Amino acid sequence: MLGAGTMGHALALVFAFGGHEVRLTDSSVTALERAGALMERALATLREAGLVDASWQPERLERAVRRVAGFADAVAEAEIIVEAITEQREAKQALYKAIDGLAAPEAVLASNTSYLNVFPLIPAARQARALIAHWYTPPYLVDLVDIVGGPKTDPAVIGTMRELVLAMGKVPVVMRRFIPGYIANRIQTAITFEVNRLLDEGYASPREIDDAVIHGLALRLPILGVLAKADFTGLPLIADALANRTYEPPAVTGRSETLDRLLAEKREGVLTGRGYFDWNEDPGVLLAERDRRLIALKRALAAIGGPIRPRNEI
Ligand SMILES: NC(=O)c1ccc[n+]([C@@H]2O[C@H](COP(=O)([O-])OP(=O)(O)OC[C@H]3O[C@@H](n4cnc5c(N)ncnc54)[C@H](O)[C@@H]3O)[C@@H](O)[C@H]2O)c1
Repeated sequence: MLGAGTMGHALALVFAFGGHEVRLTDSSVTALERAGALMERALATLREAGLVDASWQPERLERAVRRVAGFADAVAEAEIIVEAITEQREAKQALYKAIDGLAAPEAVLASNTSYLNVFPLIPAARQARALIAHWYTPPYLVDLVDIVGGPKTDPAVIGTMRELVLAMGKVPVVMRRFIPGYIANRIQTAITFEVNRLLDEGYASPREIDDAVIHGLALRLPILGVLAKADFTGLPLIADALANRTYEPPAVTGRSETLDRLLAEKREGVLTGRGYFDWNEDPGVLLAERDRRLIALKRALAAIGGPIRPRNEI
């Protein structure tokens, strides 16, 4: 596991729970140390909720996820190399080059990139065994994993990664080809643009926007998704709305006045105590609360049978 930040430490846990021996490294000693504490905290939440059994104590974690300072130690003899370093093209390219000289030729290289087309950055000889496996935070609770091959990726490698993710109890979605943000992040980005417009142009307040999303949009999503919901709406109405051009997307300026104002006031989100909302609470407590409610929601959804699954698709 290369990179021990927000995603790396959590992915190390997920792979450990899946029975894999993990070697976790980071170019920053501080990040690697902090990853130990973050993993222990997440482990405690999951143990408390009964999502992992009581044998998952810090000593077992220590054995399952070895934190190693040397990059070479982390990749030597690894069967799967998960890259979860900073989302910077040059950093990733330099790392892939370094891996090339150190890892076994048959090692699978899986990048967790959110938006970058990493395939042109990967040395030619590695491309057949390289792919994107993109997880969502926190990956020990959010089940979706986007799997995307590059133009040269061996389909068998995609199949192996899909099986591996399924064996961890996750939900892989294999995309036909790369597009930045895959599916969920693209839709999330479209929502972000629209929300910025509504805020910047003064249509509603942050709380009103979140109320509309929580009580209107979100309730149906876990049982219907977007396209099954369209079937319940009726496709003629969807076609009429398209034809009436009732929706014009916001201009993509790359900026939001509201966001700029908040950032100028050092309102950076939960970790700083304030963002769109005032939180004023220990971020650790808030993150644990989020995790606890996500767990309860997943359990409630499982108890009612999960999504309504259509039989066939077009
Ligand atoms: N944060 C999310 O919600 C999220 C979700 C899905 C995917 N991702 C993707 O995962 C990747 C990591 O994101 P993050 O949020 O964990 O970032 P992060 O900044 O929290 O962590 C990245 C870590 O990589 C380390 N690093 C940088 N260069 C390195 C190198 N050459 N070798 C080893 N370690 C190095 C940094 O020290 C840092 O600790 C990105 O590609 C991001 O797009 C993030």
